[in-house]
Amino acid sequence: SPLVIAIDGPSGSGKSSVSKAVARSLGLSYLDTGAMYRAATWWCLHSGIELTDATAVADAVRAMPLVMGVDPAAPTVTVGGTDIGEAIRETSISASVSAVATNLDVRAELGRLQRAAIEEAGHADSFSQGRGIVAEGRDITTVVAPDADVRVLLTASEEARLARRSLEVHGDADAASVEATRDQVLRRDADDSTVVQFHVAADGVVTVDSSDLDFDQTVQAVLDVVAA
Ligand code: CDP
Repeated sequence: SPLVIAIDGPSGSGKSSVSKAVARSLGLSYLDTGAMYRAATWWCLHSGIELTDATAVADAVRAMPLVMGVDPAAPTVTVGGTDIGEAIRETSISASVSAVATNLDVRAELGRLQRAAIEEAGHADSFSQGRGIVAEGRDITTVVAPDADVRVLLTASEEARLARRSLEVHGDADAASVEATRDQVLRRDADDSTVVQFHVAADGVVTVDSSDLDFDQTVQAVLDVVAA
C-alpha cells in the first residue's frame, strides 16, 4: 500500500529541501503545500484582487487552474499553463502569503486539493507508480493527513532558521543579512500561527531538530524515522 509521509515545520527548518531528498531516495512523489499557498497569493495579486476581501480571495482560489508537478527532482507549479515556480519565491509573495493562508475558505480548498494529490500518488499510473508521497507544509501532520504513515515535525533553533533563510534569500548569512531576514520571517511565523500550529509536535508526531545537523544528516534522520 502507498506510503504517506507528512513533514511540517517553520520557515528555515529545511523542510522543502529535506522533503525532496527523502522523496527522491524512496521513489515517492513530492508535494510542496507552501508553494500552493504561494501560488494562490500570486493568482490573487495577478487577478487584481484585494487580499483583504476574504470572499473574493476564496472565490478566486476556488477558480484557480493550479497544477502541481510532483516529481521531487523537478517539482513544478503551473497556473493556467504559466510556470510560476520562480515568481512565487519573490519577496512580494512572501510578504502577502499569510493574508491568503489565514483565509479559512482558502485553507479548506487547498486542503481538498492536497488530499486529492496524496490520494493520487497511491495510484499505479501516478508519478510514484503507487509508491506514495512526501507532503510538506505547516498543517500536514495535523489537518491534511493526520493519518499519514509517518509524521515528522522538522524544527531548528531560531538562530539556525534565520541563518538558512538569509542564505537562501540574500546569498549570505552575515549579521546584516540575518537582521534583514529576521523581521520578515518572524512576522510571517507570527501571522501564520494564528491559524496553524507548527511549532509544537502533535500527538504521535516525531520531532527532528536540525539545528546541529547538516543537510545529509537531517535527511538521514528523517529516513531513520521512516524505517523505524
Ligand atoms: O518560505 P517558507 O519555507 O517559510 O514557507 P513555505 O513553505 O513556502 O510556505 C509559505 C506560506 O504558506 C507560509 O508562510 C504559510 O502562510 C502558508 N502555508 C500554510 O499556511 N499551510 C501549509 N501547509 C503550508 C504553507
